[in-house]
Amino acid sequence: MTDSTPAGIRPALSTTSRRRVLAAAPVAGAAAALAACSAPAEPQAVPTAGTEAEPHVVAAVSDLPRGSKLSVEIDGRNYLLFRPSETDVLAYRALCTHQGCQVMVGEAEAFQCPCHNSEFSPEDGAAIAGPADDPLERFAAEIDGDDVVVFV
Ligand code: FES
Repeated sequence: MTDSTPAGIRPALSTTSRRRVLAAAPVAGAAAALAACSAPAEPQAVPTAGTEAEPHVVAAVSDLPRGSKLSVEIDGRNYLLFRPSETDVLAYRALCTHQGCQVMVGEAEAFQCPCHNSEFSPEDGAAIAGPADDPLERFAAEIDGDDVVVFV
């Protein structure tokens, strides 16, 4: 098991507390994202990696081959995953830092916001195109056996 926790804090995994939330969720349509964008949302307070974060099994490792991206849902919120190597996985909140639209996995290499075409790097969540300046919010994540776990 490899620790990809950005804060270096990894809560202990408990088999009984794990929940398979949603695996391999198809990317929501642009219409849904645009609907979400019609009323710009304030970024919501989401607990980041730390002592209060809980592990959520969000996908099987086989759903996220090396170099691929995936959209998952945890407690009604969307997250974006990227697996840069066999042993690492990165997780970001799918909330655009421009005006709060839902960021999508998309067909391109970068994560994409359909509202004003901001793009975010899967490698670090940085805003690399469009009007967004700030990176996507990152969460601790890891591969644990056959599971992809995100700490939220
Ligand atoms: S809300 Fe994402 S680019 Fe404007």
